[in-house]
Amino acid sequence: MKAAQINNYGSADELFVGELAVPEIANDEVLVHAKATSINPIDWKAREGLMQKMFAWQFPVVLGWDVAGIITAVGSEVKDFKVGDAVFARPDIYNDGRRGTYAQYVAVKEDKLALKPANVSFAEAASVPLAGLTALQMLNKLQVTAGTKVLIQGGAGGVGLFAIQLAKIMGATVATTASAHNHDFVRALGADIVIDYHQNKITDVLADYDAVFDTVGDIDGGLAILQPEGKLVTITKQPTSEQLAAAQTVIYGWLQPNGKELAYLGELLSSGQLKTVIDSTFDLTTAGIQAAHRKSESHHARGKIIINID
Ligand SMILES: NC(=O)c1ccc[n+]([C@@H]2O[C@H](COP(=O)([O-])OP(=O)(O)OC[C@H]3O[C@@H](n4cnc5c(N)ncnc54)[C@H](OP(=O)(O)O)[C@@H]3O)[C@@H](O)[C@H]2O)c1
Repeated sequence: MKAAQINNYGSADELFVGELAVPEIANDEVLVHAKATSINPIDWKAREGLMQKMFAWQFPVVLGWDVAGIITAVGSEVKDFKVGDAVFARPDIYNDGRRGTYAQYVAVKEDKLALKPANVSFAEAASVPLAGLTALQMLNKLQVTAGTKVLIQGGAGGVGLFAIQLAKIMGATVATTASAHNHDFVRALGADIVIDYHQNKITDVLADYDAVFDTVGDIDGGLAILQPEGKLVTITKQPTSEQLAAAQTVIYGWLQPNGKELAYLGELLSSGQLKTVIDSTFDLTTAGIQAAHRKSESHHARGKIIINID
């Protein structure tokens, strides 16, 4: 099968598309013929070698952790999915490093899968799992509910765009940060208060907030706008011991892939309550995957970057 791979850690130049064996599935896995995947910042962080402390991958490594496609084989223990089902998933990160989603075929455990709604395209579905599940799970850790005042940093990014919409569905008042050219965009997603982080500090505008979802690494800024009982979840870096000792609750969050929660996001997408936004689309070619990584590394994609596979 065709797969985008790396043989060394390094820049986007390391990415190339070549042939690899189709993964063998375990009893609790299905094989997905992938139609699309999407780029997340973890992909280029992993490409640079930053995941080496967590995973002892062997080269060639296949990156990517979003897939949408059609099931072509099921393991003997798989109960709820069958050959021909259109599905999407954030698969597990496997220890061999060869099971990423920049590939024509991807093995996925049944409990990470959700059926793709018929009125959602494969590209749209591939944009959701990693970023959408992160947004949902971190808002739940923050216990966002009706009336919560929550700051969502980086509202125009992949995680931010889902987090704004989900927080509004939960009934929250949402403040967000974005560059000026993205203000109408994040307002259309539902943001109530928008801060141009190039012009203003969040502390100039916000105070006594209940919750902060930090997607940009500004833990101190977030703590400064929280009320004493407030909660902050960061997904970018481990908080320091001083930050963890703050009066407010500080949590480092890491997405746990979950098919049932993904099915819930699928229902919201299908009913039009949640929308995805695609920044750009590339093909699964060496030039395409390299350009997609460079776009993500710019830190200024508006929404999700998609790779069309088949
Ligand atoms: N721990 C986990 O489980 C987990 C899961 C998912 C993501 N993450 C991490 O979360 C971060 C965000 O992910 P993502 O997918 O949303 O990234 P992304 O899509 O690449 O984010 C791009 C957006 O970030 C905004 N941005 C850049 N710098 C900003 C700043 N200083 N303040 C406010 N907004 C800023 C840009 O908005 P403008 O163009 O408007 O400036 C752009 O729209 C990444 O570091 C990623 O690795 C962690």
